[in-house]
Amino acid sequence: MTNTTFPHVIAIDGPSASGKGSVAERVAKYFGFHYLDSGAIYRLLAYAAYQQNVAWSDARTLAEIAAKLDIKFENGEAYLNGEQVSTHIRTEQMGKGASEVAVHPEVRTALLQTQRNFRQTPGLVGDGRDIGSVIFPDAGLKVFLTAAVETRAKRRYDQLINRGETADYDLILADLQQRDLRDSQRAAAPLKQLPDAILLDTTDKNIEQAVNIIIEAFKKASQTA
Ligand code: DC
Repeated sequence: MTNTTFPHVIAIDGPSASGKGSVAERVAKYFGFHYLDSGAIYRLLAYAAYQQNVAWSDARTLAEIAAKLDIKFENGEAYLNGEQVSTHIRTEQMGKGASEVAVHPEVRTALLQTQRNFRQTPGLVGDGRDIGSVIFPDAGLKVFLTAAVETRAKRRYDQLINRGETADYDLILADLQQRDLRDSQRAAAPLKQLPDAILLDTTDKNIEQAVNIIIEAFKKASQTA
């Protein structure tokens, strides 16, 4: 008997470039759980809208597209209408687009069930902004994963440079600050630290340390009451 609901859910929410994705993927692998990158869904929607010349401010049309969105994740790659679009959705432009389409309550409602469908046995690790607050409020463990904005900007900068792309630290920092503000100040499902979430600040921690903290916290939460 565990005191967490089944299929288990570990919710990892936090701001952009906090390392949620890498941490969540490793935690999922450790427990043999499925993984939901909810930000990728918003990115896929932003990309689908861009392809169809629909403005990221057009809530009604976006909600219609969201309701019919044909997406799939396989081996770490993202697919839209059967086409692999991982690199297209990972751009700074689609990150901004995702943050813009995500402000509309109609869009969030249209994507709610899509995200809940990822909860399958034996469990799921989901990362995003509202996984613990809206998508899976009964998650067995909720984590607020964050880091100083300058640290996140430096990590994003290094990531782009390592990929052989050009990067401007000041621009990245300004963009992250703007995105933090939009994601946390919006009316619908804003990013916030929940009272029942553990705070994990990775400013002075590496991925492995963060992963271990979450693994231990979930084991503890799952112990016989
Ligand atoms: O995690 P990410 O940077 O890939 O997410 C891109 C944007 O999508 C983010 O700036 C806000 C939005 N998002 C959201 O509103 N809710 C989620 N659960 C996940 C992402």
